[in-house]
Amino acid sequence: MADNIHPVFDRMVPREEREARNGHRGGVFWLTGLSGSGKSTIATAAERQLFEQATRVVLLDGDNIRSGLCNNLGFSLEDRRENIRRIAEVAKLFAASGAVVICSFVSPTRDIRSMAREIIGGADFHEVFINTPLETCEARDVKGLYAKARRGEIKGFTGIDSPYEPPINPMLDLRTEKLSVAEAANQLVAVTKKATSF
Ligand code: PPS
Repeated sequence: MADNIHPVFDRMVPREEREARNGHRGGVFWLTGLSGSGKSTIATAAERQLFEQATRVVLLDGDNIRSGLCNNLGFSLEDRRENIRRIAEVAKLFAASGAVVICSFVSPTRDIRSMAREIIGGADFHEVFINTPLETCEARDVKGLYAKARRGEIKGFTGIDSPYEPPINPMLDLRTEKLSVAEAANQLVAVTKKATSF
């Protein structure tokens, strides 16, 4: 940490006051899964539902963050770690402001997700596995990235030549092959509301 800084956290509007006004607690719902697993689709559907129900909800999503806050980072494991570190710090600030934060990132290794959990704090961190097998993600190949990775045009692609470690004990395991988008989003909204209600 830099020297000579004096954070003002203790003089800010307390989280409890914000949560009381919002009518719900803050918390972070961390969606992890392979590229093309359906993270963004499920996250945006859940965000919409929560917003309609007057929840203070914020969505942080991979490609969005990589086009701004993290636009100087690539896909080495070191850069992915820095990507997730920055995002976890942002999510922590939003949760402290009383928001429900949906984070949707590949976040490929257990070590990287443990770091996010540590930054955010265990009580606020809720892990959600978007559980779609590699073969299905590759068959969908919505962005054409798997084909590029197989041709060697993208190096270090998750699931091809870069690791993905599934969560061991996620709060929610969404097997997308057995669920519609609406069903998956409904399940995510239900656990979100349960975890953030007074
Ligand atoms: S990470 O691992 O958490 O830092 O990745 P994330 O910030 O979520 O970004 C994933 C999106 O970046 C695109 N992309 C890649 N993904 C994985 N591996 C490689 N090498 C790669 N290169 C580009 C891809 O569009 C991912 O989006 P999603 O929505 O996951 O498909």
